[in-house]
Amino acid sequence: MSLIIFIEHDGTRHEVDIAEGHSLMEGAVANMVPGIDADCGGACACATCHVHVEPAWLERLPAQSEMEASLLEFAPDPTAGSRLACQIRVSPCLNGMTVHLPAAQH
Ligand code: FES
Repeated sequence: MSLIIFIEHDGTRHEVDIAEGHSLMEGAVANMVPGIDADCGGACACATCHVHVEPAWLERLPAQSEMEASLLEFAPDPTAGSRLACQIRVSPCLNGMTVHLPAAQH
């Protein structure tokens, strides 16, 4: 298990333990973290699991696939830390990672 911290746009904090190998999106949905819609169920086809990863953690993440990068171009308010939560698998090196949720998912 790794602890992942989700912070809503209004500052509400959710600390979630997610099993290794599960995605951030799966962990958020299973723990009813608001703001992760995940309309496509993790198929990398909707971008409604958009999160902003804090800069210190970005280098620990695998590179974006072309599909993820193209979807993020259409996500609202993209930043250098934008990622799709369904494309990040939890591993021990991500224990303690903080991600911020956008104001809305589309
Ligand atoms: S859940 Fe649809 S792209 Fe992540």
